Amino acid sequence: MPAWDCPPTQALVILARVNTPTDLSAIAYLSSAVRPFSDDELDALLVDARAFNNSVRVTGVLLHHDRSFFQYLEGPADGVAQVYERVKASQRHRGLIQLLSGPVGQRHFTSWHMGFADAPGSALQSLAQAEWLDTRPALEQRASDGPLPPGLRLLTKFWQTWTKGPA
Ligand SMILES: Cc1cc2nc3c(=O)[nH]c(=O)nc-3n(C[C@H](O)[C@H](O)[C@H](O)COP(=O)(O)O)c2cc1C
Repeated sequence: MPAWDCPPTQALVILARVNTPTDLSAIAYLSSAVRPFSDDELDALLVDARAFNNSVRVTGVLLHHDRSFFQYLEGPADGVAQVYERVKASQRHRGLIQLLSGPVGQRHFTSWHMGFADAPGSALQSLAQAEWLDTRPALEQRASDGPLPPGLRLLTKFWQTWTKGPA
């Protein structure tokens, strides 16, 4: 039954379910490797990252091209903050540029404690140039049914193309 055909109290419950704010937050950043990573070094980084991210319920993706990285982290605010502290402490990259930091309405990479792609340089460039800031009030940013900032829309589209399926 659509919300508008319900008695007022039931309609309120239905609307609240659709639009419930979440306590999820996300960070996206770019960085440059101090020196090129070998495949083995990337594998080791991912094993370590996935174990820690799993322990704090953080999901997301890491994209790599040449010496450039792009990473998107999502999860409970304290988990995302802990992961980002580890990322910032790493001596193996520098020049971190934060593109996004704040509340998000939902996870977009539910099955990836850290998805990885060796991405085309053009994809990293597009993500770097996209608009990531969400200027809506915090409560609206937390709503699970709001429009996505263009950067996040682009990232989920790339990821679906590369993995040939939903994130
Ligand atoms: C590009 C990049 C992405 C990283 N992503 C994560 C991550 O998602 N989760 C995590 O716990 N640590 C992450 N780290 C940190 C490392 O896995 C690890 O804590 C750190 O590399 C150890 O310190 P070191 O790099 O200075 O040797 C990342 C590091 C780099 C360089």
